[in-house]
Amino acid sequence: MCLGNICRSPTAEGVFRHLVEEAGLTEAIQIDSAGTAAYHEGEPPDRRSAATARQRGISIGGRARRFRATDFERFTHVIAMDRSNRSDLLDLAPDDEARDKVQLLRDYDAEAASDVDVPDPYYGGDRGFDTVVDICERSCEALLAALRREHDLRTTTRRGR
Ligand code: 4NP
Repeated sequence: MCLGNICRSPTAEGVFRHLVEEAGLTEAIQIDSAGTAAYHEGEPPDRRSAATARQRGISIGGRARRFRATDFERFTHVIAMDRSNRSDLLDLAPDDEARDKVQLLRDYDAEAASDVDVPDPYYGGDRGFDTVVDICERSCEALLAALRREHDLRTTTRRGR
């Protein structure tokens, strides 16, 4: 989850999808991304995000959509890119069960130190987009490891055997 669903969350979705595919867990883990704002609804990912991800062998796609309260029923984890997104999500959450699903991506980033937000790259230079992919790669690896522990998921491909 991010603001526009064209930069950070599609990148996180693409990175995570890539890791889940490598692990042979596509049947077990459903993944999507969305934004809290409607400005870019229906648009593909920002071309700078797509180009930066592509350089790392990650393809990102889909169309921007706005997060809906019903998404809390569809997902076990609702992961915000920054504290502002988290606050917006908590406002949308209908009950404690939904609120408990909301986390920050950098909760999973061992190198986050005191940086809890994935910085919004939209108005900055290209380095911001690299930083987003770096954070997503570290955090999504740890997220996948956590989900495997929580749900006792086993790899079904050669890679993890
Ligand atoms: P995102 O980035 O939340 O990572 O998709 C942004 C995209 C668009 C805007 C802000 C952030 N905007 O202000 O239009």
